Amino acid sequence: MIDASSDRKALPGKPLVRAARGEALERPPFWFMRQAGRYLPEYREVRADAGSFLDLCYNPRLAAEVTLQPVRRFGTDGAILFSDILVIPHALGQHLEFREGEGPWLEPITAEAELARLSCDRIHDRLSPVYETVERVRAALPDDVALIGFAGAPWTVATYMVAGRGTPDQAPARDWAYRDPAGFQRLIEMLVDATVRYLDRQVRAGADIVQLFDSWAGGLPESAFERWVIAPTRAIVERLRKLWPDLPIIGFPRAAGAFYEPYVRATGVDVVGLDTGVPLQWAARTLQPMAAVQGNLDPRLPIVGGAAMLDEARRIMEAFSSGGHIFNLGHGFVPQTPPENVAQLADFIREWRR
Ligand code: CP3
Repeated sequence: MIDASSDRKALPGKPLVRAARGEALERPPFWFMRQAGRYLPEYREVRADAGSFLDLCYNPRLAAEVTLQPVRRFGTDGAILFSDILVIPHALGQHLEFREGEGPWLEPITAEAELARLSCDRIHDRLSPVYETVERVRAALPDDVALIGFAGAPWTVATYMVAGRGTPDQAPARDWAYRDPAGFQRLIEMLVDATVRYLDRQVRAGADIVQLFDSWAGGLPESAFERWVIAPTRAIVERLRKLWPDLPIIGFPRAAGAFYEPYVRATGVDVVGLDTGVPLQWAARTLQPMAAVQGNLDPRLPIVGGAAMLDEARRIMEAFSSGGHIFNLGHGFVPQTPPENVAQLADFIREWRR
């Protein structure tokens, strides 16, 4: 562990890591959420050979290959590990499938008694192919490209575990959390524990930086946001900092609105991921003094391309040019995104100067 840590310190110059620590660079480093995926023909080809989506996640050779595809094609400053946030429930022992055209499907866990079906003890058995993917990517990446590890944040992962699938309103998890907060807390604690162990292993395997995806952080009342979004995220940040004092951590509480500010203040994340709805000047004034910012181009713009996309990209880079900024989308690419537009966006960011 000590060796891996001094190894990371020996490479302090990756632009993405420097921006994450709050440095204003000549132009922002960039990567894109869902940069590996169905909008790329080379991904669809590998995906077709792999069998199911989960088979791809657990195949280190193929998962490393699709992780590297967008780095090669667009010259991104970061590679995000190819995996999924739902491998954690799977590793805890919950049945998981990705049904074609339907998305994830899990055997729902709806009450405290059902937590007995899960266990943190053997998570690495199932997750070890993911760590091997990280090692393979690390070995293949250019020195100046950062490797981004990730996990889902406990609240978002819990919404899938409880509903058994994606839901528009996360009603099953909210209902359980209101009905039986002590029981729901046990699920969240299990996820905090598994997430720390999982991210620790990703860093040991070579991740330079990690992101916590809280895709369903929006729409909660204040007390629930504090208890189920902020508190578990803070616990993960504190525990990871003890293990890896220099590791930059990105928190992405999508759609958190007015809770973005207390989120950054209370969790201690180094970088905050901004969804598309966050006003630029407000974020530059309020959030950027506390943390580097990442975001927040509307993922619809790379579908349209051209001046509409580039004008908005320029506005974002100008707004955040005086502090730490990592260029990204406000949420992930969707499958109909033309890769040519992404290439145009990447060139534009690379050539921009503050
Ligand atoms: O390129 C990358 O961003 C890295 C890989 C990655 C995937 N999922 C691959 C994936 C990452 C970081 C994720 C995170 C993830 N997974 C989130 C958080 C971010 C977000 O989008 O809000 C969530 C909520 C999930 C859960 C998940 N995975 C859903 C709901 C679905 C189905 C929806 C869909 O788009 O089909 C997935 C599947 C998934 N994860 C795909 C990919 C490339 C598509 C599956 C396929 O190729 O068949």
